[in-house]
Amino acid sequence: MSTVEWEIAMPFGSVVVPKHPRRTAMSSGVTVDVSRETGESEPKKNDDSAVKSFPSDIGKLRESLSLDPTDIIDPMQATRCLAVANQKGGVAKTTTVVNLAAALTVLGSRVLVVDMDPQGNASSALGLSREPDSIGTYEVLVSGAAIVDAAVTVPGLPGLRAVPATVDLAGADIELVSQVARETRLRKALEIYLEEQSEAGDPVDFVLLDCPPSLGLLTVNALVAAGEVLIPLQSEYYAMEGLSHLVSTVDMIQQHLNPNLAITAILLTMFDGRTRIAPQVAEEVRKHFSAELLETVVPRSVRLSEAPSYGQTVLQYDPTSVGARAYLAVARELDRRASDQIDLTDKVDSPVKATEV
Ligand SMILES: Nc1ncnc2c1ncn2[C@@H]1O[C@H](COP(=O)(O)OP(=O)(O)OP(=O)(O)O)[C@@H](O)[C@H]1O
Ligand SMILES: [Mg+2]
Repeated sequence: MSTVEWEIAMPFGSVVVPKHPRRTAMSSGVTVDVSRETGESEPKKNDDSAVKSFPSDIGKLRESLSLDPTDIIDPMQATRCLAVANQKGGVAKTTTVVNLAAALTVLGSRVLVVDMDPQGNASSALGLSREPDSIGTYEVLVSGAAIVDAAVTVPGLPGLRAVPATVDLAGADIELVSQVARETRLRKALEIYLEEQSEAGDPVDFVLLDCPPSLGLLTVNALVAAGEVLIPLQSEYYAMEGLSHLVSTVDMIQQHLNPNLAITAILLTMFDGRTRIAPQVAEEVRKHFSAELLETVVPRSVRLSEAPSYGQTVLQYDPTSVGARAYLAVARELDRRASDQIDLTDKVDSPVKATEV
């Protein structure tokens, strides 16, 4: 079997993306019960043929971004699952999920997006069908459909799959209340999927969960499934309002349902450095969350707000825009921070090695 996944001709030579080694399922590390839950009727499978119709687009995208070979992200040891959450509305959760997912994909990672928001904005922004006859997050959470049957490849971005939010998802928050293991349904489904993908030699590097603007059962399911929380904060006066509530929700989930959950990143969005308020917000966040605050900020960009109306990510819509570059920088920073942490852990975990040298 070849060890090369993709070879892409670039102006500076070719970029080779290696095949991923086989890995364990999720970084959050809870053991998996691999008995797949089944619904009453056998669920259909979404059409996942898009990947075949867009074989070269990712190569073209990389060319237009003038990526350096060193930009390609190394395969992960374990899947990183990030819940992108903030109960405040309109702070760029969805914009972050779809564009970060595209950026990670362009940089060579395998990504799965799960649209946890009944508004379905991530699904439409990725150009996916939200028709009631598709299988989506509702079927996964409520009817026990398998993620492998619900996930579809995003047009133009082989390597990026997404589970769409069909209109039924609006009822899930209420329907889940009476169900057994209502908080862990996404986690179980994801663990099965990740295990299967890994077994099939097609492992997933990143899972991004687009949460709704509330802290109901849909967000709780995301926080129970995730290992990390990424909080987008709009750089405006009320940015920090409600943040303590979100932090205590994360603490509560960590204590009772998911001991591995941590807030690992806070991202300032719609940043306008010409205003007085934006740097003030950055300063205030840094005071309280200096380790979590990402260096990269996402500036206001018209292209970012236009792209969804074409069912595209900003990397496809305008790869050279400031919005596209910002989300590429976010992707690289997230990867770099994780690598730095692994290096640190290596040092802490291996005192023998350190004294031997
Ligand atoms: N950096 C940016 N520059 C300009 N517009 C932006 C930027 N980020 C997001 N937007 C726009 O702001 C609006 C809200 O963004 P988005 O839908 O991503 O927020 P959200 O947190 O997911 O909202 P909700 O809470 O309703 O799910 C959208 O119209 C989006 O296009
Ligand atoms: Mg949203």
